[in-house]
Amino acid sequence: MFISKIAGLAFAAGALTAVSVQAQEVNVYNSRHYNTDRVIYETFTKSTGIKVNIIEGNHDELIQRLKSEGASSPADLFITVDAGRLAAAAKEGLLAPVTSPALEAVKVPANLRDPDGAWWGLSSRARIIVYALDRVKPGAITTYEDLAKPEWKHRVLTRSGTHPYSLALTASMIEAKGDEATEEWVKGLVANLARPPQGGDTDQIKAVAVGEGDVALANTYYVGKLITSAKQEDREVAAKIGVVFPNQSDRGTHVNLSGAGVVKTAPHPENARKLLEYLLSPEAQRQFADGNMEYPVNPAVAPHPELTKLGSFKPAAVNAAAFAAHTPQAMRIMDRAGWK
Ligand SMILES: [Fe+2]
Repeated sequence: MFISKIAGLAFAAGALTAVSVQAQEVNVYNSRHYNTDRVIYETFTKSTGIKVNIIEGNHDELIQRLKSEGASSPADLFITVDAGRLAAAAKEGLLAPVTSPALEAVKVPANLRDPDGAWWGLSSRARIIVYALDRVKPGAITTYEDLAKPEWKHRVLTRSGTHPYSLALTASMIEAKGDEATEEWVKGLVANLARPPQGGDTDQIKAVAVGEGDVALANTYYVGKLITSAKQEDREVAAKIGVVFPNQSDRGTHVNLSGAGVVKTAPHPENARKLLEYLLSPEAQRQFADGNMEYPVNPAVAPHPELTKLGSFKPAAVNAAAFAAHTPQAMRIMDRAGWK
């Protein structure tokens, strides 16, 4: 397997162009950086003989690269961890709709795939509210809207508003409640912050555990990773927090996804489709989802037992592309309302 960082691509691009005439390979532009995924690609190669070349970079860099390379791009499959980025790539015309009997047979839920097949979800994560077990009563907070209520002043923790996870949540609020209500919500949330946004989701969970704030926004997999961590201190953090799947009595909890789309100019579109089919197969889904403690999109594969223990929940039914379309407006609202 060939792995390259985006920074060193002058050499990598030449190498890939030179080998792309060979049929038995597939080039993946990948912004999902989880080591466990590599085993899946190796297994795919063993069973098909198709070599997987991984080109890593952050999603914006990879989308930019796809655009600037145009028809000469070596990219076959684009994998990323935010529906907004997949929808943006599809909107730019970078992805080719793909389907097959094998892909349809998986029965990926409608909210986790592009209606035209421009991208397919591979695993999902819910954006939940984590709370301090010793300071917050169960049931005291049940919705994202609650985070903006005055009783949570100086108690709310979140990562930066410029991060795709925050943007996607705000975009989903726009989809559900419109611009004005969303701007009021963001203002209320910002007014309730226990500290200026800093760090990632795990840092927010740890801050709840040590009492810097009482409630935090986080993706489910960060909680799952703390629960299953080999480190005692991580498991102690997990023992101090409870989780809420927000908005269960109305629109459901906001979910985002890891997903993939076949690149329109793919030199090996058949191999890209085969890899996509493999990634959605029960065997790969088990590893792909568990490797990052995400929910498999293949309904035939059960979530990791520790995720199941967090509780079942109603996910928002809205298609990821629908809320992703509001991302630019979410950015403007969050900027105005001061979610830095
Ligand atoms: Fe993450």
